[in-house]
Amino acid sequence: MKFIKKLFESIELVFIGFGNLFYNLGLTLYETFLFGSKSWWWKIRFQYFVNYIFSRTNWIVRRESGEFDYPEENFIYGETPCFTIKQILEAIDCQPGDLFIDLGCGRGLTVFYSHFLKDMSAHGYEILPAFVRKARKIANSIGDKNIKFFEKDILTADLSSAKIIYIAGTTFPEDFIQKLNQKLRDAPPGCHIVTLSYNLPNKYFNLYREMVLYFTWGKSHVYFHKRRDKKTVAKRERTQ
Ligand SMILES: C[S@@+](CC[C@H](N)C(=O)[O-])C[C@H]1O[C@@H](n2cnc3c(N)ncnc32)[C@H](O)[C@@H]1O
Repeated sequence: MKFIKKLFESIELVFIGFGNLFYNLGLTLYETFLFGSKSWWWKIRFQYFVNYIFSRTNWIVRRESGEFDYPEENFIYGETPCFTIKQILEAIDCQPGDLFIDLGCGRGLTVFYSHFLKDMSAHGYEILPAFVRKARKIANSIGDKNIKFFEKDILTADLSSAKIIYIAGTTFPEDFIQKLNQKLRDAPPGCHIVTLSYNLPNKYFNLYREMVLYFTWGKSHVYFHKRRDKKTVAKRERTQ
């Protein structure tokens, strides 16, 4: 009986694995159809292929995540496709030169995408050193000075000039999200903050839009907020 249960579980896992493989293949084909005419797209794809061919994403996460005082949930890995970042940026009134920050940027793809899609300055913060090392190498080879990567805990990031802050922290644990909420209060008034799967406290952040978009792990809820200014926060406090 135990053996049959294990066998069914293994078969189920194989199906999930194949399902995920085909889903991601579909995403890649769709992205190639959308962006295949852009030379920057091929430049990025080529650089990522070369830099990760012998050093897989999951190996890096497994090898390096244990060195930090955070639970596994901080390091469950997934990425935001280029067409999803495009949809997010199009939902926001962003201008060339505005600063986009990805907190927990992983391999750094969103940083490159936001720069090439909207001509924004783009910063990525990531705690795992190998991701930052490779992202910097790719940025150097592309030769763009408006892209920067910081090997830092996102709770210590410099948010003072941000126009858009993006956090794909679907699996971040509750106590970390609380600390992040506190940290995000450093964002300047009017800054757009985009979160996945959970929204931010209404007192400091005005939730003005919600969307459901595609990611490498499937669909997720995307929340768009604007940092309220001090006056509005004080006024709301008085009227409550
Ligand atoms: C789901 S991945 C998101 C990747 C990327 N933002 C994207 O959307 O394609 C989350 C990333 O956050 C990083 N991370 C988790 N906790 C962190 C922390 N305290 N400081 C910096 N990065 C962190 C993880 O290492 C992981 O690479």
